[in-house]
Amino acid sequence: MTRSSPPVIAIDGPSASGKGTVAERVAAALGFHFLDSGALYRLTALSAMKHGVALDDEAAVGQLAATLPATFRGGVVWLAEENVTDAIRAEAVGEGASKVAALPAVRAALLDRQRAYRQAPGLVADGRDMGTVVFPDAVAKVFLTASAEARAERRYKQLIEKGNSANLPALVADMQARDARDTARAVAPLKPAADALLLDTTHMGIEPAVQKVLAHYDWCKARSKQGN
Ligand code: C5P
Repeated sequence: MTRSSPPVIAIDGPSASGKGTVAERVAAALGFHFLDSGALYRLTALSAMKHGVALDDEAAVGQLAATLPATFRGGVVWLAEENVTDAIRAEAVGEGASKVAALPAVRAALLDRQRAYRQAPGLVADGRDMGTVVFPDAVAKVFLTASAEARAERRYKQLIEKGNSANLPALVADMQARDARDTARAVAPLKPAADALLLDTTHMGIEPAVQKVLAHYDWCKARSKQGN
């Protein structure tokens, strides 16, 4: 990071670890910008599905990712003229996102777009490879985890609350399959950065997790000042 680059807090971890909510609250507490990088992979998958492009057609999906007509405005996600805020959260789109995310052309196409979110006064970036690949110079890095069972239970509650049907054992199996794919892929696999704080939220609520991230950021800031 150059002296003038706005600070980045990288929050990575598997699906439903709570990192999205934690990252959003940390960003709000600090008045920082927020990047939901998973939404970009979800939008890429949704766009491929809409265009009838096979999710393993690397060249075609990479092209879609490079030219994604996506905008985020006040909590609403647009793909061209269409409000896709709910559509990108569907389980099938999450599955598709995890598939297209394994394609190097897709990851490369989304790299600059993600880095463009780094603006003053700072950025909280939520994803899988924020601390390892996209913002390796982030001032603070956190890796949020929780057991697959705890994460499946959270997803189950969210689905039921929204009036959807859900099957807990199937969600645990999906969660494990997606973790395995995200962890095993050759490019930007899901893994904590060497200098990340590991935070297990299996038995931790959202607010204590937010406070821990904020305290970690303060500590990292103080440490980086000492190093200057
Ligand atoms: O975080 P979310 O569940 O919305 O991400 C959807 C999928 O996108 C993940 O399962 C993962 O495969 C992929 N992803 C990624 N790198 C990121 C963010 C998401 O590979 N930085």
